[in-house]
Amino acid sequence: MKNFEYHTPTKLIFGQGVVEKLPDILGSVGKKILLTYGGGSIKKNGLYDKVKGLLIDFEIFELPGIEPNPKYNPSVLDGVRLCKENNIEVILAVGGGSVLDCSKAIAAGALYDGEPWDLITHKVPTNGALPIVDIITMAATGSEYDGGGVISRTETNDKVGYMDSHLYPLCSFIDPTYTFSVPKKQTIAGVADAINHILEQYFVAESSILTDGMCEACIRSLMENVRIVIDKPDDYQARAEIFADATLACNGIFSIGNSYSGWPMHGIEHALSAYYDITHGEGLAIITPRWMKHILNEKTLPRFVKYGVNVFGIDENLSSIEIAEKTIEAQYMFFEEIGIPMHLKDVGIDDSRIEEMAHHVAVNEGLDTEYLFAPLTEQDIVEILKDSL
Ligand code: NZQ
Ligand code: ZN
Repeated sequence: MKNFEYHTPTKLIFGQGVVEKLPDILGSVGKKILLTYGGGSIKKNGLYDKVKGLLIDFEIFELPGIEPNPKYNPSVLDGVRLCKENNIEVILAVGGGSVLDCSKAIAAGALYDGEPWDLITHKVPTNGALPIVDIITMAATGSEYDGGGVISRTETNDKVGYMDSHLYPLCSFIDPTYTFSVPKKQTIAGVADAINHILEQYFVAESSILTDGMCEACIRSLMENVRIVIDKPDDYQARAEIFADATLACNGIFSIGNSYSGWPMHGIEHALSAYYDITHGEGLAIITPRWMKHILNEKTLPRFVKYGVNVFGIDENLSSIEIAEKTIEAQYMFFEEIGIPMHLKDVGIDDSRIEEMAHHVAVNEGLDTEYLFAPLTEQDIVEILKDSL
């Protein structure tokens, strides 16, 4: 087990009706609030009115319209401007991971005099951020319990992961009842995203019985519960368990003491959603079995065997290579069964920009580093993408 430091400063308040506590939490940090949200789901499901009703004693400015795969221009820039012009004291993000990620970049940009892009790209260090409180409405990214966000810049096809300890939310409210209204497409994409976060931590050279067990249990929970909510979107227990899974899956607790994988599938997917603005979880689900097939070799084989036996219940008496092949097939079939489009062409991506995207990934994501479990060259990325068509 490697040495590790683990610290999550975010308070989680989880369960039905917990948003009633919002005024208490916000009151302790400030009265001038920037309320950030997306394209209108919170108005349809009543959460917007609920929040406004709870915060009548607060001064609220609003940044609506944050899109999936949140954009630097206009959303981050508009948010930073609003914070500076109005001396905002705290940001309240109400929505999915995109709203929260965008709010994290705004929170840091608000305390910085220069171009916020320099912070996002780590060109200059982040020395502070406004406090962030969120009501997260999608079980997917785990942004509610991590110190990262992903911001897109359309004109350069960049989608950049921005990580900093100042970006952890102060407090995340997680009420699973607000996910009853998440459409099936987003529900299953969110589950695929969370599963992939776990796989990025599981397929490593060094892990432990503890971390493997947490990862395997969490994936089993996501698989069982998503089948339930597909039939019954308002099943509280299943929605709650999926949310708890997704919240923990990207937080780092599942890989304490492990070696690092480099998060190769995320590196590749971020190019797909940067170039084509596709749904992150769908892109990941498409890439996952192709990446698995591509990295399967003598060194990686034992991980496939453990995963396949413990998660998909594959017969451990089969040969290792048979187990691995059945595991990859089972992974594909699961995503297909829950309804994810499993080919790039199904989400509007053809072969015309594959080389360009692979080059972008190879230059920006550092996936070819030798110490990684399964390093990927530019040619490897081309092959994985072609296989995903
Ligand atoms: O915009 P609105 O109207 O709110 O609708 C959203 C959006 O259309 C809708 N939605 C959200 N909650 C809803 C709802 N619809 C009905 N009822 C609700 N309760 O769902 C759509 C997608 O929302 P979005 O926020 O984009 O989804 P998600 O939470 O999956 O976030 C995806 C973004 O997060 C990044 C992804 O790359 C992508 O940009 N990631 C962030 C990470 C992090 N911060 O740690 C890690 C991830 O790996 C990921 O890269
Ligand atoms: Zn993800």
